[in-house]
Amino acid sequence: MSKLRPHPYMLKCFEGAGQGHVFDRFDSLEPKRQAAFLAQLDALHLSELAELISLLDAPAGVKGEIAPLDPLVPSASEREAFAQAGWEALEAGRVAVFVVAGGQGTRLGWPGPKGTYPVGPLTQKTLFQLFAEQVLAIGERAGRALDLYVLTSELNRGETEAFFEEHARFGLKEDQLHYLVQANLPNVTLEGRLCLSGPGELATSPNGHGGALLALRDGGALRRMAERGQDLLFYWQVDNPLCAIADPVLIGAHLGAGAEGSTKIVEKTDPEERVGLVALRDGKPGVVEYSEMTPEQQRERAPSGGLAYRAGNIAVHLFGREFLERVSAPTFELGYHLARKKVAILNAGGALEEPSEPNVVKFERFVFDVLPHAKNHVTLQVERAEEFEPLKNAEGSYSPATVKAAISARAQAWIERAGYTVPRGPSGDPVLCEVSPLTALDPAQLRERLGDQLPEPGAEGLSL
Ligand code: UTP
Repeated sequence: MSKLRPHPYMLKCFEGAGQGHVFDRFDSLEPKRQAAFLAQLDALHLSELAELISLLDAPAGVKGEIAPLDPLVPSASEREAFAQAGWEALEAGRVAVFVVAGGQGTRLGWPGPKGTYPVGPLTQKTLFQLFAEQVLAIGERAGRALDLYVLTSELNRGETEAFFEEHARFGLKEDQLHYLVQANLPNVTLEGRLCLSGPGELATSPNGHGGALLALRDGGALRRMAERGQDLLFYWQVDNPLCAIADPVLIGAHLGAGAEGSTKIVEKTDPEERVGLVALRDGKPGVVEYSEMTPEQQRERAPSGGLAYRAGNIAVHLFGREFLERVSAPTFELGYHLARKKVAILNAGGALEEPSEPNVVKFERFVFDVLPHAKNHVTLQVERAEEFEPLKNAEGSYSPATVKAAISARAQAWIERAGYTVPRGPSGDPVLCEVSPLTALDPAQLRERLGDQLPEPGAEGLSL
């Protein structure tokens, strides 16, 4: 293959857009790299890039007027009624489920897709396995298999699929598991210049979990859902092993309210906790980021004594399919969020430089930005210990240690609620516990499956 040259028109367009520097060392590239680089540049929409760059000068700050929102805390009888309606929808095959796993997991630093991280405290089951087993168990209980969609990025699509296939999809049928790929967006320097992560390679990153919406449309998921008579999509993030997938209570509450989009929240009790909040913005429910709140708002109290802004977003949603069709249409403007990050890029001399300060801007779309567009919205409060402990960091909070502890603590709580006593180890402490989704999805099912006798724990703990 001989050396290539960029088309003069392409050169002119990039120069006109102030991005001609990307061709600076083009001649020194191998022809194969030249071809790949030209394809990458060709796929770039310069008008979209100009729009993104114009956001660098947009004033940061709060958009719209923010007010607290009271989440729905159903009584036991309401929960039961919601659950019944939810199971009916599941039995009728109306629900598909969708896990977003296209992130880069930079904080965790695991060399592979985050879903391949082993979190089972006793079994070392990975996040993907725990989810696949839960999907199987719900399908079995409902008498209707659920379709599972997995959002990947261009970077982790191959590894994700290979992982599922190596493990025979953890029992999921071939036509039950679908992969979607979100698009990448270019990174720019703080001055708005395209940058290279290597010779002949633009620095890019996945377009945020909001990219899931486009991927659902472009990947044919919404069409397939329509063909299969599914009108509800349950959404969660790959990092939260405690997520109650396709929770019938959420489904029932959503249907009862005639909602188009719904969200689960946990109560925020510490004003300092850096969590996004479901709140009203200009009278409409949506997610308000921690950084958008004043310290006074963060500390404000409700008449009940709890925090006024207490609906901590855990990124678990239920969406109506028709709503998703509307908000994934090309004409729908979701907007972008900017993140200033430290990324190794080539310097003017062509050498890779590790920055000590944030040096590039990444552009992301956020899925929760669609919530204000939903006709009705349910904000359902759930117990943190039951449903939320995400794997974010290598150490400290939301790390493998806290996630494993949370899985064990929930299993212990289920064992007690099922009417057993958690065995104690030689130290006198309750033993480590884990309940497979294939054994039980809740304490009542655990009792049903195990009968009166709790098995004896092994040396490591009690794996049920
Ligand atoms: P986070 O914002 O926590 O990002 O994603 P992350 O990639 O997991 O971790 P860091 O910030 O790099 O350390 C929340 C969820 O959204 C998904 C992630 O896979 C995770 O389930 N996500 C995020 C996507 O699917 N695509 C994206 O572009 C970004």
